[in-house]
Amino acid sequence: MEERFAFLAEWYDPSAALLRRYQLLFYPRDSSVEMFDVKNQRTFLRKTKYEDLRPEDLFVGNRVNVFSRQLNLIGYGDQFTANRLGSKKERTLAMIKPDAVPQIGDIIQMIYDSNLIVTKAKMTKLTWSQGADFYTEHQTKPFFNNLVQFMTSGPVVAMELMGDEAVAGWRRLLGPTDAGVARSEAAGSVRAQYGTDGTRNAGHGSDSLASAARELEFFFPSTAGCGPSNTASYTDSTCCIIKPHAISEGQTGRILNAISAAGYPVSALQMFSMDRANAEEFYEVYKGVVTEYTSMVAELCSGPCMALEIQAASSPQTFRDFCGPADPEIARHLRPTTLRALFGKTKVQNAVHCTDLPEDGVLEVQYFFKIMDD
Ligand code: RTP
Ligand code: MG
Repeated sequence: MEERFAFLAEWYDPSAALLRRYQLLFYPRDSSVEMFDVKNQRTFLRKTKYEDLRPEDLFVGNRVNVFSRQLNLIGYGDQFTANRLGSKKERTLAMIKPDAVPQIGDIIQMIYDSNLIVTKAKMTKLTWSQGADFYTEHQTKPFFNNLVQFMTSGPVVAMELMGDEAVAGWRRLLGPTDAGVARSEAAGSVRAQYGTDGTRNAGHGSDSLASAARELEFFFPSTAGCGPSNTASYTDSTCCIIKPHAISEGQTGRILNAISAAGYPVSALQMFSMDRANAEEFYEVYKGVVTEYTSMVAELCSGPCMALEIQAASSPQTFRDFCGPADPEIARHLRPTTLRALFGKTKVQNAVHCTDLPEDGVLEVQYFFKIMDD
C-alpha cells in the first residue's frame, strides 16, 4: 500500500460560522492530498497533487494551508502517523530579555539554524506585577527584586518555539545562566554572545514541558485579550509586514537584522495568522487597482506573518525606499540592497509589505496591533 500520513484537521468556515472537521491524508510519493468530511462521511477533496504542502510542516499543533484553507492539525489520524511524525515535537517559551532585544534578528537566526521554528511572537513591556508573577517560583530568592527590576526595565520579546525536543534545545542554545560562565563553557551560546552577567543574561527558556505550558499561557493565553499588551505607540510610525512565505523560508532573522542595520527602530512586533476576511480588509485599497490583489490576499493568509511598527518619524518615505520596488526582479536591477531585492521572489512573494502612503502608516499599525490583537 502507498505510504500515507493521516491527520484530524479543523477548519473554521467563516460563511457558515462553523468549525468543520476533516480527515486529511498526505501521500509523500507524489505530494498529493485527500480530504474527508468527518461529520458527513464523504469525500471533500479528491486525491490531488499539492506541492505547496511541505512534509516537515505536518505535525499536530501546526497550522497548514491547503488550497487557501488554513487547517489546524489537531490530531494524528492513525498510530503509524503518530509514531513517524509525532514523537518528539514540543513547544516551549523563549523570551528575549530587555538587554538582547536589539539582537533579536541574530537570535531568531540561531533558532532556525538549530531546526526550531518560531510559531508565535510578541513584543511586550511587563509591569512589575506581571514580572513578579512570571518569576513567582523565585519570589523567596535574594535576587528576586533585581530580577524583576531588570525584566521590567524595557521591552521583551516572548516567542513560542516548536520542534524536536524544543524545551532542551532552546536551553542548550541559551547556555549557562551566568553569561560569564557561558563565555567560558559555551562560547557560541546566546548568553555568551549577548549577555552580561548572572542577571542580565539575554534570554529565558522554560525548564520543563509543564513550565512551558504555564509560561506559554502567560504570554499567549487561550482566552483572547488577557495577556500582556503589545508595545505599539501609534505615533510617528509606519507598518511593515514580513510575509508568510518569508517566515516559512526561515528569513525572519535576516530581515529583522537588515531593518536594524539600516537604522530603523522596531517599536512593536507581533506574529498574526490572518484569515481571508482580514487579509481582504487590510488590502482593500488595492482591490481593483493592483492586478495581483487576489494573489496578495492568498499570500497574506497562507501562514503566520510578522507585523512590525517601525519608527520613521521624519520620513516614512525613506523606509518605503528601503523596502524597494514591489517587483523583486526590478529591485535586484535598480536597488540591489533593498529588502525586496534581497529576500523577495515574485511580485506577490516579495518578502515584505510596507505602508504606501505616509498618512496611512499609523492606520495600518492600528489594523494589526489594535484590531487583530484583540
Ligand atoms: P531563566 O529562568 O531566566 O531561563 O534562567 P535559568 O532557568 O537559567 O535560571 P533560574 O535559576 O531560573 O533564574 C532565573 C533568572 O534569575 C536571574 N538570576 N540572578 N544570583 C543571581 O543574581 C541570579 N541568579 C539568577 C537570571 O536572570 C536568571 O536567568
Ligand atoms: Mg529558570
